[in-house]
Amino acid sequence: MNGSRGQLSLIACDSGRQFAERIVRELNRIAKEENEEVFYRLKYTTEVTFPNGEIKVVINENIRGDDLYIVQCIDDPLSPKTVNDNLMAVLTAIHAGYQSDADHITAVLPQFPYSRQERRKTREAISAKLVAGMLELAGAQRVITLDIHSEAIQGFFNVAKLEDLHASGVIIDYLQNYKRIDPTRLVVTGPDVGSAERARHYSKVMGAHLAIVDKARDYSAISKVESMRLVGKVKGMEVLIVDDMIATGGTLINALHLLREKGAEKIYVATSLPFFNGDCADRLDKAYHEGLLDLIIGTDAVFHGKEFVENTPWYEEVSIAPLFAHVIYNINKKRSVSDLLK
Ligand code: R5P
Repeated sequence: MNGSRGQLSLIACDSGRQFAERIVRELNRIAKEENEEVFYRLKYTTEVTFPNGEIKVVINENIRGDDLYIVQCIDDPLSPKTVNDNLMAVLTAIHAGYQSDADHITAVLPQFPYSRQERRKTREAISAKLVAGMLELAGAQRVITLDIHSEAIQGFFNVAKLEDLHASGVIIDYLQNYKRIDPTRLVVTGPDVGSAERARHYSKVMGAHLAIVDKARDYSAISKVESMRLVGKVKGMEVLIVDDMIATGGTLINALHLLREKGAEKIYVATSLPFFNGDCADRLDKAYHEGLLDLIIGTDAVFHGKEFVENTPWYEEVSIAPLFAHVIYNINKKRSVSDLLK
């Protein structure tokens, strides 16, 4: 027994509250299993938006000396708050934790904001680096995230540590145990070369075949895909497309057309971050009704709410909150997290 890093305290920004409540439920389940006499709950906070749009988070309870975890889901489809509002809210919450003398501060951000701006193509910012710097400046000593778009972002932090969790475990479990997918008839692919490593991991664990989609982007326009081609065979097979995120759905819909043209029988999609920005859900609904798509499996790291999940025939949600809870619990207890990060 190595002891612990002090009292485990959790707070949530408004857009992270539902996800944080799921983490808390799981923490209490773990504590019960460990015969610990403790009851975890979210500490009280208030998030204020001023008439001019400025935001601040106030922590309403003592957290001095605590091991503090601050949960925020930056892109929240159920809230009018923008990504930038929610980023600012979590920065003020972290700084409030620092000002209130928490011993350790961890930002729990299942969606790492600006992660697709991690390198420069023209006269532009490396915004992911800017975000890393802002989180550190606010006082974060650790960030826990999910399937970060580029692992190189780890190196954008000077002192804070980045823990990158993976959704593949819960998604594969769902496919194997609930969908009872036959791996000998399954081809795993990603919608671009960047996702090939993730596709390889899924195919290896599931014992399925692998194909690669080669996507070229047109960087003169936002979110525009230029061309796609397939390396591998999908004719008469079931296909699983894996991607870190679905934003506008453009990449995915192009891949769906390509794979159907090449003879894929069924198409499943697995994604860690189902953002479904703009009219993406309508476009996916159309694709489903045109027979291009069978099912998308996404995690609750992007919270779409009960109504959407229950009324969307092409969408299945799996919860990633238990994994976050285990990692938080182990960090607090100074136990290894390596096995949980695989
Ligand atoms: C690209 O590199 C990513 O992995 C996703 O495929 C992409 O960001 C999804 O964006 P959209 O849905 O807007 O095409």
